Amino acid sequence: MSEIPFYAQQGSECGLFEHAWRQQLPLLIKGPTGCGKTRFVEHMAARLQRPLVTVSCHDDLSAADLVGRFLIGNGSTQWSDGPLARAVRLGAICYLDEVVEARKDTTVVLHPLADDRRILPIERTGEQLQAPPEFMLVISYNPGYQNLLKGLKPSTRQRFVALSLGYPNAEVELAIVQTETGLPQTQAQQLVQLAKALRSLSDQDLEETASTRLLVSAGRLVASGLPMRQACHAAIVDALTDDATTAQALDEVMRALFGDAA
Ligand SMILES: Nc1ncnc2c1ncn2[C@@H]1O[C@H](COP(=O)(O)OP(=O)(O)OP(=O)(O)O)[C@@H](O)[C@H]1O
Ligand SMILES: [Mg+2]
Repeated sequence: MSEIPFYAQQGSECGLFEHAWRQQLPLLIKGPTGCGKTRFVEHMAARLQRPLVTVSCHDDLSAADLVGRFLIGNGSTQWSDGPLARAVRLGAICYLDEVVEARKDTTVVLHPLADDRRILPIERTGEQLQAPPEFMLVISYNPGYQNLLKGLKPSTRQRFVALSLGYPNAEVELAIVQTETGLPQTQAQQLVQLAKALRSLSDQDLEETASTRLLVSAGRLVASGLPMRQACHAAIVDALTDDATTAQALDEVMRALFGDAA
């Protein structure tokens, strides 16, 4: 069996996922960028020993991109399953990332699959795929930068059990940074403190704040030998903002925490 990707729980989300899977209920995960949504799904798929099929949604994604289409080749026409049909046949966990990006007529194909019918009708072939009990549909989105006109239709979202993730508390985040970067505790601790300080800034014009992902990136640069402040500037400050004044303010927070020597 392949190794289970590391995931540190923020609360009791692993239990919730497993119960939802057992009860054949689809799951909606909400949370800001870099908070661990993808890692969580990868971890749970491996734990439950199910294949994982991931689809990154975008506004061009059509129902055929998900379900499948006829392909012409060698003088014949052959049906080719899309990722959703493939996942249903495999009894996989199908993870649709950033699902609000997809057009509403696309998300509607999820409806019969996400309620107690658990079927995927393939109109073009007349086939009705019945999802096996192991199949699970998981969707995620980031409520932070969601276009107000977008969002999910109530009839879509009410088919899903919902889970909200945020950034983990300091203790869990420390464990994540240490495990993901191999940094010693004191340096990992500094990164977690920096994140806490940056997240508490409310007067800065930032679309999103320092995520666990950014801490891990900074930590990897430090583990590789870059000085702490240079690593944090590149992986956190410049990743968060294009505005020179804002960057200066974030660097100031860093200097106050780490001192000039770091
Ligand atoms: N709870 C966690 N356990 C282990 N690693 C984590 C956790 N949270 C975040 N990470 C680390 O942060 C990185 C980013 O997490 P991930 O890709 O899962 O975020 P995401 O929520 O899917 O972001 P996005 O919305 O941008 O896709 C991971 O590669 C991992 O290193
Ligand atoms: Mg992700």
